[in-house]
Amino acid sequence: MSIAIIGAGMAGAACVSKLVRQGQQVTVFDKGRSAGGRMSSKRTVQGYLDLGAQYFTARDVAFMAQCQHWLRAGSIAQWRGRLARLDDGIVVASPDESVRFVGAPSMQAPVAALLDTVSLHTGCQVDRLAFDGKRWQLFSAGVSLGQFNQLVLAIPQQQAEQLLQGAIPLNAELNSLFATPALLPCWAVNVSLAHSPWPYDGIFGETTSPLSWLARQGSKPGRCQGEHWLLHFNPAFSQQQLEADSSDIADAALQALQQLMGEPLSAKVSHCHRWRYAQQNPAFPHYGMVYRPELALGLAGDWLNGGRVENAWLSGVQLAREIAQ
Ligand code: FAD
Ligand code: NAI
Repeated sequence: MSIAIIGAGMAGAACVSKLVRQGQQVTVFDKGRSAGGRMSSKRTVQGYLDLGAQYFTARDVAFMAQCQHWLRAGSIAQWRGRLARLDDGIVVASPDESVRFVGAPSMQAPVAALLDTVSLHTGCQVDRLAFDGKRWQLFSAGVSLGQFNQLVLAIPQQQAEQLLQGAIPLNAELNSLFATPALLPCWAVNVSLAHSPWPYDGIFGETTSPLSWLARQGSKPGRCQGEHWLLHFNPAFSQQQLEADSSDIADAALQALQQLMGEPLSAKVSHCHRWRYAQQNPAFPHYGMVYRPELALGLAGDWLNGGRVENAWLSGVQLAREIAQ
């Protein structure tokens, strides 16, 4: 059986890795320059910058085993960041016992490891699908990418809806998947500071602040050393400022940082990135994954399973199991 997978993020990669082990013939397409999706670190001359996922935790036994495997292979490392939180606008220590991981030397490393032996076409945006009742045909910029017996969409909800809408009549069940937005936006800003603002590596935001997270990049292996701080804005701010200019978001980041530090800043914004589809809408139900054998179609992704890296992996693995049955 030939299977096409669109999306080489953690969900797609986990699905592919299981399918290949089952002896299936799999071809993967991703529009990005490399695999990883939202587990994305930007390469700079000074090292990587994590603009998307910051770290991940493992609660499920199977995912814990996968993390041990990646640890042994050196694709991930434990992140022992010194943690703090905002409390009424003040940064206070907030250590805990949780084990947290990061990709090494970049966030995409564990995804790349899952795709090690697979036929992966990067820089390839699938923009049209056709289904003849038996086989799926994929197209990119008017060129056919081939015909396949099964299709897996491991891409964010809104992008899956767009592709499917043009290809098949969406029944009530499929429509209900797309009725509520599953993923909310997030603005990410990297700020370089002249000196160390706090003796911490990661700071959780609070509801009264537009910032949901701040992290010192150099606390992770392979990342930019020095005082490079990554700021994430919360979903409410990010939604409200979705179409804002990067320069306005940069100013907002510097202003928020200055307010927290309580002193004039000597800082420069180096990167601003808008994630249109970033984090889980808490109101969106958990489906795990979706498999419709009559349509030879599967959907996987964090958005179907509660967000987070671990849930993306679990969604992909669960879909591979369904396809194999
Ligand atoms: P994605 O990673 O989005 O992968 C989908 C892939 O599909 C992408 O590579 C994309 O290029 C490709 N694609 C989409 N459409 C097409 C198309 N038409 N043709 C070809 N390719 C296509 N999780 C945590 O656990 N911890 C965190 O600290 C954390 N922080 C985060 C911070 C931010 C700013 C963001 C954005 C996410 C964060 N997450 C975090 C969430 C985590 O990154 C995701 O849960 C996980 O990476 C999602 O994996 P996925 O495979 O479901 O989707
Ligand atoms: P986790 O267990 O470390 O954190 C879960 C949540 O618990 C945190 O968001 C925070 O609110 C709280 N928390 C944990 N440790 C804390 C501490 N020491 N002090 C104060 N609060 C603490 O990680 P998990 O469950 O694996 O989640 C991953 C992280 O990814 C979360 O922080 C989540 O918010 C973030 N995320 C961000 C996205 C974005 O777009 N910005 C998208 C998806 C996830």
